[in-house]
Amino acid sequence: MMAPMRLAGTLVILTMAFLSGLRPESWDPCVQVVPNVTYQCMELNLYKIPDNMPISTKELDMSFNPLKHLGRHSFSNYLELQVLDLSRCEINIIEDDAFHGLNQLSSLILTGNPIQSLALGAFSGLSNLQRLVALEISLASLEDFPIGDLKTLEELNVAHNFIDSFKLPDYFSNLTNLEHLDLSKNNIQNIYHGDLQILYQRPLTKLSLDLSLNPLKFIQPGAFKEIKLHQLTLRSTFNSTDTMKTCIQGLVGLKTDQLVLGEFKNERQIESFNRSLLDGLCDMTIGEFEITFFREFSEKTTDFLNCLANVSAVSLSSLDLSELPKFSSDLRWQYLELVRCSFENFPELMLKSLKRLVFSYNRGLSTFTELELPNLEFLDLKRNALTFKHCCSHTYFGTTRLKYLDLSFNAVIIMTSNFLGLEQLEHLDFQHSTLRQASDFSVFLSLKNLLYLDLSYTNIHVVFHGIFHGLASLQVLKMAGNSFQDDSLPNIFMGLTELMFLDLSNCKLEQVSQGAFDSVPRLQVLNMSHNNLLFLDALPYKPLLNLQVLDCSYNRIVDSKGQELHHFPSSLASLNLTWNAFSCVCEHQSFLQWVKDQKRLLVAAEQMECASPIDMQGVPVLSFRNATCQMRKTVITVSVLTVFVVSALAILSYKFYFRLMLLVGCKKYGRGESTYDAFVIYSSQDEDWVRNELVKNLEEGVPHFQLCLHYRDFIPGVAIAANIIQEGFHKSRKVIVVVSQHFIQSRWCIFEYEIAQTWQFLSSRAGIIFIVLQKVEKSLLRQQVELYRLLSRNTYLEWEDSVLGRHIFWRRLRKALLVGKPWSPEGTADAESNQHEATTAT
Ligand SMILES: *[C@@H]1O[C@H](CO)[C@@H](O)[C@H](O)[C@H]1NC(C)=O
Ligand SMILES: *[C@@H]1O[C@H](CO)[C@@H](O)[C@H](O)[C@H]1NC(C)=O
Ligand SMILES: *[C@@H]1O[C@H](CO)[C@@H](O)[C@H](O)[C@H]1NC(C)=O
Ligand SMILES: *[C@@H]1O[C@H](CO)[C@@H](O)[C@H](O)[C@H]1NC(C)=O
Ligand SMILES: *[C@@H]1O[C@H](CO)[C@@H](O)[C@H](O)[C@H]1NC(C)=O
Ligand SMILES: *[C@@H]1O[C@H](CO)[C@@H](O)[C@H](O)[C@H]1NC(C)=O
Ligand SMILES: *[C@@H]1O[C@H](CO)[C@@H](O)[C@H](O)[C@H]1NC(C)=O
Ligand SMILES: *[C@@H]1O[C@H](CO)[C@@H](O)[C@H](O)[C@H]1NC(C)=O
Repeated sequence: MMAPMRLAGTLVILTMAFLSGLRPESWDPCVQVVPNVTYQCMELNLYKIPDNMPISTKELDMSFNPLKHLGRHSFSNYLELQVLDLSRCEINIIEDDAFHGLNQLSSLILTGNPIQSLALGAFSGLSNLQRLVALEISLASLEDFPIGDLKTLEELNVAHNFIDSFKLPDYFSNLTNLEHLDLSKNNIQNIYHGDLQILYQRPLTKLSLDLSLNPLKFIQPGAFKEIKLHQLTLRSTFNSTDTMKTCIQGLVGLKTDQLVLGEFKNERQIESFNRSLLDGLCDMTIGEFEITFFREFSEKTTDFLNCLANVSAVSLSSLDLSELPKFSSDLRWQYLELVRCSFENFPELMLKSLKRLVFSYNRGLSTFTELELPNLEFLDLKRNALTFKHCCSHTYFGTTRLKYLDLSFNAVIIMTSNFLGLEQLEHLDFQHSTLRQASDFSVFLSLKNLLYLDLSYTNIHVVFHGIFHGLASLQVLKMAGNSFQDDSLPNIFMGLTELMFLDLSNCKLEQVSQGAFDSVPRLQVLNMSHNNLLFLDALPYKPLLNLQVLDCSYNRIVDSKGQELHHFPSSLASLNLTWNAFSCVCEHQSFLQWVKDQKRLLVAAEQMECASPIDMQGVPVLSFRNATCQMRKTVITVSVLTVFVVSALAILSYKFYFRLMLLVGCKKYGRGESTYDAFVIYSSQDEDWVRNELVKNLEEGVPHFQLCLHYRDFIPGVAIAANIIQEGFHKSRKVIVVVSQHFIQSRWCIFEYEIAQTWQFLSSRAGIIFIVLQKVEKSLLRQQVELYRLLSRNTYLEWEDSVLGRHIFWRRLRKALLVGKPWSPEGTADAESNQHEATTAT
């Protein structure tokens, strides 16, 4: 039933998908990124704006559709649009009021449309537009661009067009919020004084102007005089040293917060650098100076830096600088950045004013040399392959004000001092450098203000437990990729009471000592991934009252030991247990169930797969069925119980087999059908006495008694036990037990006696007569508790080998046997003298 219906459903869906391919507007093909808010209709071969999206749509990506033509009121269905991307929509024509009503629109992207006709009122109504990106729209001049009404515009990007004049049109007086004007990769060759006229009337002091990649040949000297910009970028703008020199001189009088010069890696035109090239810099007022990608830039040509004495920040990156010149001491630089230069020696920097030094990605150096920078607060020396031989103290860096120190991705760092004089340090990063002697003493002892410490992958082998002493303010500690003695995490976090983030991933950890987290009660993030933990509760969770994120992925966790999970932090919001060695067998079912119960916390729960047993490999852990175990458990319990009951029954029926037979027999024979007067139980050792005395006296005397004796009366071929019961007990009125030393010692006799007792009980006859043949040792008798009790409570006959004794014995025995004997002619003699004669044993 199900299969055909499903098939039919699939067919319907396929047909609809096919039809939708033919008529795109009839079907909603756009991707809903955020429901009712963000839709992506990229590259769907749409010819017009789809009209079936919610009117509340705020972000719409229509890029790479052949719209070709934007008519009036093209977006009247989506008046709440804030971001509209129309990149590469082959748009040729934009009519008046195309964006009518989009007064929420803040960002419009028109990149890559070969616009031929742009109506004067094309952008009218965009009363809130802040960002207009119009690269590659075949724009030939700013003058013709109808954006004069976009008073809220902050960013105008018209790079990669054919603009050949830098004349800023009059409408710029309306663009009072403009902060970014990107004119790079246009065709501007000359800049004249009049081009910036509008900026004199309406200064745009926050403007960042990018003129990179224009073939600039000439800047009229004084064109920028008194102009204040935030940033001016001129990269790969000059195709010769001559033009560069004259153009820079032409910038005389410019005030700018930042000047960016240089080239692009793949757009290098200047062949040789000439020391007078940047002389013009002396005539400008520059806040920060940046120069990048200049070939042939050597220390001999760095004189120009003297023109930059008053700048606050200098950045020299990707230059062929092998050495720095000696700086004059009146430089006022506060920030210096030297990145990706080809220094051969660590530069000698004597800059009293310097607060921030970034010296990174400089290959080709080997050893760090001491600094003398008394005001330095921020030192970034990452990725230089440097060796530090005496780290770290205030004399090493020549400052006591250091707050930020980054020595990551270097070569070897030898720890010889515990940051003496660097007590201000707040951020310290050593990652991926090789630390030596870090575990020999309390290296961080002075750093009571340190907040952040990264020691990841520094080859530390932690032996000394006091390694982190002194870090009283530390909040973040990254120890990934190191190792610990015995692969066990000792209690090394004493005093780190502020710690919130701890990364111990990739540390080969197998165990965690019980007190390890006792002193980090504020811990929020604990990363234990990529270790060798076998149990989830290898960690002592009890002190971690604020833990929110726990990453135990990539371990070998199979189970929990049970106790610690009770202390599992209730504050936890994220638990990553992916890539562990989950064993999906019933043995671990309570752990697996616990894991399933934490589903709300689990990260990528669907990626948690069983690693064993083989038939469960790759099966999601969460699909492990508890019920299977329950069933298996029930089956096992039931079978065990059954086996137990059956065997108990078997043992019982084996043990009480004879009793059962007796019971059956009692019902069958009933009373009064006895063939014998008495069945005699005796030990074969006493057979002589039985034959010669008992049988002679009772069977040959008067009255005549018929005894049942096994040697004589048992039916051959029948099991002895069956004979005992059928012939002996069932057909006899009474049982005579001949008690002697041998009788007590014979297990068979005792067995017969026990059966006799049961028989007496079942047939409710007072029928057992005890004859004590010889004195039995009391101690021996006591072993047969029942018999002993009976003999001490009841009367019994004692055999005496004297004439008188015999006479009394036989009289009493006959009398006892006569009780209940049915009348017979020969047996009347003493029948009426039925008196009780007994001896009470003591
Ligand atoms: C989307 O908008 C429709 C109609 O305005 C509304 O019914 C629906 O609940 C909205 N969906 C979401 C996820 O906001
Ligand atoms: C400035 O904006 C006003 C009002 O939108 C407009 O009338 C005027 O033409 C604009 N000025 C220029 C130079 O475009
Ligand atoms: C620089 O540009 C001019 C004009 O575009 C051209 O004639 C000249 O060959 C270029 N020089 C170099 C070195 O590319
Ligand atoms: C530097 O360039 C200028 C102009 O191109 C030239 O006159 C001067 O000789 C050059 N000086 C050096 C040292 O190359
Ligand atoms: C730096 O500023 C001082 C005064 O503030 C001035 O005398 C000096 O000429 C300036 N130096 C340069 C290179 O602009
Ligand atoms: C834990 O560390 C591993 C590798 O070191 C990393 O991939 C993972 O993102 C970290 N987890 C958290 C929660 O930061
Ligand atoms: C574990 O999950 C967390 C939270 O999503 C994530 O940040 C972390 O990267 C994951 N760990 C690994 C090793 O991917
Ligand atoms: C799964 O088993 C555990 C213990 O073995 C039990 O506490 C839990 O209630 C069971 N869950 C279900 C859904 O059967």
